[in-house]
Amino acid sequence: MAIIETRALAKTYGKIQAVRGIDLNIEKGEIFGLLGPNGAGKTTTIGMLCTIVRPSSGSASIAGHDIVREPAEVRRNVGIVFQDPTLDTILTGRENLKLHALLYGVPSDIREKRIKELLELVDLKDRAKDITRTYSGGMRRRLELARGLLHRPAVLFLDEPTLGLDPQTRARIWDYIRKMAQKEQTTIVLTTHYMEEAEQVCDRVGIIDHGRIIALGSPEDLKESMGGHMVILRMKEAPLDRIRALPYVSEATQNDDIVEITMEEAHLHLPDLLLNIRNVECVETRAPTLNDVFIKLTGRDIREEEIEDSGGWVESVARYRQRGH
Ligand SMILES: Nc1ncnc2c1ncn2[C@@H]1O[C@H](COP(=O)(O)OP(=O)(O)O)[C@@H](O)[C@H]1O
Ligand SMILES: [Mg+2]
Repeated sequence: MAIIETRALAKTYGKIQAVRGIDLNIEKGEIFGLLGPNGAGKTTTIGMLCTIVRPSSGSASIAGHDIVREPAEVRRNVGIVFQDPTLDTILTGRENLKLHALLYGVPSDIREKRIKELLELVDLKDRAKDITRTYSGGMRRRLELARGLLHRPAVLFLDEPTLGLDPQTRARIWDYIRKMAQKEQTTIVLTTHYMEEAEQVCDRVGIIDHGRIIALGSPEDLKESMGGHMVILRMKEAPLDRIRALPYVSEATQNDDIVEITMEEAHLHLPDLLLNIRNVECVETRAPTLNDVFIKLTGRDIREEEIEDSGGWVESVARYRQRGH
């Protein structure tokens, strides 16, 4: 039996269908990512699974316990790290962990040992006696991760655990998460809208849009489903029909003077492609990403809304650069 099972799990808020019937089986020890744009229903899905949000219909169980009928058992089996930090900032790092251990009834004979282990795991041993108000964003997030693991939950939910953190800190946090998952055999369900992270960290990814899972599989399988490499041409007035008719081309789209072509074995067919079309100013090839998968399925870029919504220009510039401009 899968450790997490959902059947037609759904949540509506008035007229808003936040989650529209999700069916998932997640196995013990898996790192599973819910990837989707803002408002896709990621947080609501996690909220239902950790018994904070009551489903409108459908069902789900964690470690065999129904999320509606047996919420206490479910809570014993899950740890949560939320999008917004929930640490008590007037306590020290160690006190925050101790408070949580008491709340969750971690037995006193193992409490101190476990707190020590976790502080070491997230590299906060030296700062354990400082109040967390003095911690950097990355340190707080790491302390939250440690706290989420304190009662040895079978399942750890991480809602956008690296949102707003700088790239180095993000990379370190993912290192910790992977280490923890391996060491503790923890099942991890995380949400993110950083595609690169989902690709690198997750065993399997569910791409979620408008409350539905629209694609499910390992990052490799999802990218392979694109049917080849991406070839990007810069040119005016591209003969799209002629390009699409070429036997090795699976898809071609145009945006201003940028033509994106998905094709099999780009390294073999690129010379022929360039013989068939003239006026190409610039050529670039790359492997498909999960964002390409998202675009293929929805016609939208997963990052569009984010760039508009995000107030932070540093973030926007970083995203913009990652798109290869
Ligand atoms: N408590 C709530 N009341 C009303 N609408 C909500 C509430 N929580 C979420 N929503 C709506 O449900 C949809 C999904 O939200 P959410 O699960 O937070 O998405 P995500 O985490 O993927 O950004 C959005 O349209 C959001 O506005
Ligand atoms: Mg969210």
